[in-house]
Amino acid sequence: MQHEYQDILVSDISSGVLTITLNRPEAYNALRTQLLSEVAEVLDQAAQNDDVRAVVITGNEKVFAAGADIKEMAALDAVGVLNDPRVLHWRRIAQFSKPLIAAVNGFALGGGCELVMHADIVIAGDNAQFGQPEINLGIIPGAGGTQRLLRTVGKSMAMQLVLSGEFISAAQARDFGLVSEVTIPERSLERATELAHKIATKPPIAVRQAKEVLLKAYETTLDSGLSLERKAFTLLAATEDRNEGIAAFMEKRKPNFTGK
Ligand code: HXC
Repeated sequence: MQHEYQDILVSDISSGVLTITLNRPEAYNALRTQLLSEVAEVLDQAAQNDDVRAVVITGNEKVFAAGADIKEMAALDAVGVLNDPRVLHWRRIAQFSKPLIAAVNGFALGGGCELVMHADIVIAGDNAQFGQPEINLGIIPGAGGTQRLLRTVGKSMAMQLVLSGEFISAAQARDFGLVSEVTIPERSLERATELAHKIATKPPIAVRQAKEVLLKAYETTLDSGLSLERKAFTLLAATEDRNEGIAAFMEKRKPNFTGK
């Protein structure tokens, strides 16, 4: 069953997986405040709910999201932008502690491309197009599109996207590490969901620790990243799931992870 919010659809939890569908087709899923607040709200709830092990986020067959809502943005002056509640919603999305997997078909532009970069794994249909066209509006990316993009695709491609506003294809996005797999458009959601289900069977504390430590690599030195990895590795030695995983391997049986 799909639960209807104003701007998104949220599925029931199925074997640990929740799916969020951006649902403003008339505005190419433009990320107005309402939409972002709903995504942040659902992720906050998912973070608290032990039954949710991974979240899939998707759009429709033609568009993931065409960016910030330009009509809404037009009404804001500098103080309005400074106090924009969307900044908080973006932060909540970035802080989601469980795996977030994006299935992207069609346009992922501006804030839409930035939302993609908030996902941990990205599966794209071969009709996907990624871009940061903010420069055409006299602005620059404002939800991580300079920082996350550069760290993801490297300097030359990040500069190319942000300065020229040109779009890149799914295949180029994969070559540059923005996307991990490209499928036919009809399969992207299925593949993302398949991965989410697989991750949902893994020990949840180890999954969360892995996400946290991997993301730290964006913003720390190798030395402190390795130190954090070692601490997380040590912490996991105190979990029941680690004992269960090792015992199951020794006994040649499937592990039964309990999240403890
Ligand atoms: C509001 C949008 C929109 C957007 C599309 N629409 N993108 N509305 N904000 N970002 C609306 C259009 O107004 C139109 O509605 C309908 O969606 C379909 O769009 P068309 O342009 O008619 O479709 P098409 O010709 O197929 O072109 C698709 C497109 C184009 C290439 C995606 O719509 C486009 O360039 N959109 C803007 C992309 C963009 O610049 N994104 C960056 C935004 S700034 P009506 O009612 O008019 O028919 C940003 C900053 C992030 O994201 C900062 C985060 C803090």
